[in-house]
Formats: sequence, C-alpha cells, structure tokens
Amino acid sequence: MTTLITSARGHTHPVWKSYRHGFFTGESATIIDAVQIGRERTPMDAITVENLTKTYSNGVRAVDGVSFNVRQGEIFGLLGPNGAGKSTTVRILVTLTHASGGSAVVAGYDVRDHPAEVRLRIGYVAQNSGVDKYDTGRENLTLQGQVMRVPSDVLRPRVDRLLEWVGLSHAAEKLVETYSGGMRRRLDIAMGLVNEPDVLFLDEPTTGLDPESRAILWKDLERIRNERNMAVLLTTHYLEEADALCDRLAIIDHGTVVTEGTPSALKAEIRGDTVTLDLNGRTDQAPEALRDLENVLEIIPNGAGILVRVENGAAAIPALVSRLEHAGIAVHEVTMSRPSLDDVYLHHTGQHFSADGASSDGEGSAIR
Ligand SMILES: Nc1ncnc2c1ncn2[C@@H]1O[C@H](COP(=O)(O)OP(=O)(O)OP(=O)(O)O)[C@@H](O)[C@H]1O
Ligand SMILES: [Mg+2]
Repeated sequence: MTTLITSARGHTHPVWKSYRHGFFTGESATIIDAVQIGRERTPMDAITVENLTKTYSNGVRAVDGVSFNVRQGEIFGLLGPNGAGKSTTVRILVTLTHASGGSAVVAGYDVRDHPAEVRLRIGYVAQNSGVDKYDTGRENLTLQGQVMRVPSDVLRPRVDRLLEWVGLSHAAEKLVETYSGGMRRRLDIAMGLVNEPDVLFLDEPTTGLDPESRAILWKDLERIRNERNMAVLLTTHYLEEADALCDRLAIIDHGTVVTEGTPSALKAEIRGDTVTLDLNGRTDQAPEALRDLENVLEIIPNGAGILVRVENGAAAIPALVSRLEHAGIAVHEVTMSRPSLDDVYLHHTGQHFSADGASSDGEGSAIR
C-alpha cells in the first residue's frame, strides 16, 4: 500500500514520490526504532565504498568496480561526464537501488543490510529537485521533517533555523513556484538537512544555476561542513566547483574511478605548464610539427587549436610558435596556464572534457 502524507495546503503526496523518489518507502517503523535507540558516533569513515558494481536490467554496466572513502567532516566530489555512473553510485549509497556487487558502508551501516539505519543518518538531494512547487518553502521543509519523523517541538525551530541558514526566511511563506532556480536548490539542501544528517549527498547541486547562485551555494556548503563536521558527497560537472569546494575528489568515467586525491595533489601529478595555441582549425599537421621539440610532454587536440604541455611554458612558447609557422601553420593566439583539473582529467582519460561544451555561463569548464 502506498503511504500518503498530506501537506498543510491539503495536497496529498505519495511519500515515495515527493520525498526523495522512494527514499523512505515503508521504513517508518524501523526509523522510529532507530531514533529511540539513539546515535552512537564512532571515529570511522563516513562512507566506505569497495569495488562497487551495478548492472541495470537492460545490461548497462553503470558502475564497474568503484572504491573510495569519505571521512567525517570532508567534502568529497565525484566528478565525471554524463553517464559516468555518478548518480547510480549515489543512489546505491542512499539505498535507493541495490548494487550488483561490492560493498558500501555509510554512517557506520552497510547499505544493503541496514538501509533504514543509513537513511536515518543521511540527507539526500537528488539531481532533480524534490520540492513541491505548490507548497511554500516552510511547508515543504515541515513536511520533509514529518516524513523524517522529527518530533514537532524540535521541528518548528529547526525549520526556522534552516530557512534562515539558507537565506530563505524572507520567502518562507511564498509558494515555491515563485522561487528562482537558486532559491529552489537552497530549499532542496535545507530539506536534505532537516534530520540533521551525519552524511549529506548532493547530486549536482549547482547544475543549471547562474554563477551568483552557485557561489552562494558553495558558501552554504562550506558553512555546513565547518559548523556541523558533516561529511558531504557531491557530484558535479564543474571542474572549478570541485577545485574550490572539495577536500578530495574522485574522477569517475565509464563507471570506474580513474584517479582520486586532493585537487592540489592531483594537479601536482601533472608536470609543466599548459600552452594553448589557437590555430584557426589548422590542427592536422600541428602535432607532427611539434613532436620532436625538446621538453614537450603532451600534445592534445583542442577545438580549433591544440594544447601542449611543456616543462617551462614561457621558455617554450617562442619555439612552439616558430615551429608551427615554419610548417605554414599560423598561430592566432597563445595562452599559458598552470595545470588545472582539466589537465588532470585529460591526462587520465585521454579525453578533453570541455571539447563538447563549456558551461553556458562561461564560468570555467564543464565536463558535459
Ligand atoms: N534506471 C536505469 N536503467 C538503465 N540504465 C540506466 C538507468 N539509470 C542510469 N542508467 C545508465 O547508467 C549509466 C550511468 O548513468 P548515471 O545516471 O549513473 O550517470 P551520471 O554520471 O549521473 O550522468 P549525468 O552526469 O548525466 O547525471 C548511463 O549509461 C545511463 O544511461
Ligand atoms: Mg547524474
């Protein structure tokens, strides 16, 4: 039987639909038991994932041996292109789908053996917003708290605090349909926090947001982590987001982790500078022209030009330009940069992830 819950505005919601896409279906008794038992924190990883696999019934191998761990108080990023397996991994960790193999422990409990215990201790913000646009911000939050069985005397002040925390106090009584995208996403995050979780999962929290809203969300997340010592696992397409926000990250591609570490350690793996040469599309002969040049570490096609990784960019640029022009290839523009997460991704996957689309707002590179 489907469990229905009625909002203050009189809408009925199947719990499985409105509240995190099946997140709490039929688990209420176990959740209450767990609340009564209380929480025991132990100094362990917030998330431990070992050799996780998932093959969907249509035969798609979405996750293919993923392992990583996230410590308490850490913001950890899963970074990867469309279809890499990020959401599937997250859905396994939040107990919405079963893994085909491997193991995952979240907040001290195995996700397969103790899903209700896991759900009690986590918040989950899905890739697609779960808020009801015909309810107000306060009603959405209150309903979510009720679904999570937060006692009403605790819930009321907590809702006020969360609204204030995500900067929505002024809009608390307005219908969500009048909210901007950034406001909705902030409400989503507040809803993920209503049970004061130990581990927060955010599936693409900032995709589609304008740069200002994204910056506000970054600040919110850092505050959450700092004030609550919570572990946060987020997925993202935005390299600059992972760079700015994540203590550690794993780059995931075709269902496997291709590399993992702190943003700075990952960048330090990549030697030299990146020189970007705009050749107005005349890229065919360029790699050959540069191949035997001293100190060239890597040559990668880059749209209408090429990227060249060299030991010392400033010293190498004159020789690069002269070689190309000698081969009859005009250089229209040259830029130089220190290794970025783009370069890390390229190095490990052989693909240039911004080739098929930088973020539409021009804020850094997106993998999409
Ligand atoms: N319910 C499903 N049934 C069958 N295949 C699925 C299902 N969900 C996802 N897939 C497939 O599994 C692979 C991984 O998908 P997933 O949604 O985990 O990727 P993602 O990294 O989150 O991508 P995006 O960045 O687009 O959100 C893709 O090939 C996808 O088409
Ligand atoms: Mg996804």
